Amino acid sequence: MSGKNWDRVPIDAQSIDAPLSSAAIFLVVTVADDRGALAKVFSVLDGLDDLVKTVGFRDLSGRLSCIAGIGSDLWDRVDKDTRPKELKRFEPIKGPAHAAPSTPGDLLFHIRSERPDLCFEFERILLDSLGAGVTVIDEVSGFRYFDARDLLGFVDGTANPTGLDLPASALVGEEDADFAGGSYVVVQKYLHDLGAWQRIPTPLQEKIIGRTKIDNIEIDDDDAPRKSHKSLATIVDADGNEFDILRDNMPFGRAGRGEFGTYFIGYSRYLWVIEKMLQRMYIGDPPGAYDRLLDVSAPQTGTTFFAPTRSALQKLVQAAGN
Ligand code: HEM
Repeated sequence: MSGKNWDRVPIDAQSIDAPLSSAAIFLVVTVADDRGALAKVFSVLDGLDDLVKTVGFRDLSGRLSCIAGIGSDLWDRVDKDTRPKELKRFEPIKGPAHAAPSTPGDLLFHIRSERPDLCFEFERILLDSLGAGVTVIDEVSGFRYFDARDLLGFVDGTANPTGLDLPASALVGEEDADFAGGSYVVVQKYLHDLGAWQRIPTPLQEKIIGRTKIDNIEIDDDDAPRKSHKSLATIVDADGNEFDILRDNMPFGRAGRGEFGTYFIGYSRYLWVIEKMLQRMYIGDPPGAYDRLLDVSAPQTGTTFFAPTRSALQKLVQAAGN
């Protein structure tokens, strides 16, 4: 739980609460430094919902959706005066053994569907409309793997907030009224050393993750000398309030090239909550006792965005056109 509950999802929030899908594309682009490119990009953002309808209507059971996130630098280029309180670039982290890089990104498109071909078709038309004014920085096609497992073999996403806890954790509230209903989004693309992971005996893997592997039962490690990933990613304030985020991680990879990855994506009402999770994972709690998941998972990217409500996006579209 994170502060006051929403009694409903604000109606013009983007589709952050869309159900976890079988396929997704994570697309990160930068926007060229000229007004023409900027105006074009924002006119495409203005028509994003229509494009979802156009492509998605071809198979409604495919449940196509797309969330657009805007990076701090791009936001500044359009509107310096009003911006989400916590929005800033991803801050790199240097831990005792592992570091998290910060990589560029003006826009994130999180495209989800039950059908990979719908994701592909949507992305193809989207990039075509964005034109030469954008540069693709990163593009990952993810897939749901067996019982929502990551490529390390563990079920990923279990502790996600559901019901009314979902908007309360993932959507900005009255603390930043101009941007209520929006969401901070952090992405990191991880590559796994699967061979090294497979050499770790399953009982130790379970201690590292904080859940059993086959049946996904949470392991209580409050008194363990070294905290698990699950415990390091649990954020509790001085008053005992727990702060969740919404994750929609996806496996990706190309077995023939030895590429095995997890695309981490977290939506949060407060950016500081994800930052705190990352601090605890990389620096450790106590400092030095970092997340051993990182011994076999190397982040290749790290970028922060804000996914505004449709009405906040409209204001940006107007500002970009002026
Ligand atoms: C290599 C990348 C990652 C993998 C494979 C991974 C995998 C997992 C798995 C298997 C769980 C336990 C099941 C669940 O509740 O979902 C978990 C929990 C969690 N992870 Fe990750 N994770 C990764 C990165 C991250 C990052 C970067 C963050 C945050 C910045 C994060 C935040 C969380 C949170 C909040 C939980 C739930 C903790 C709880 O039980 O309350 N994870 N993760």
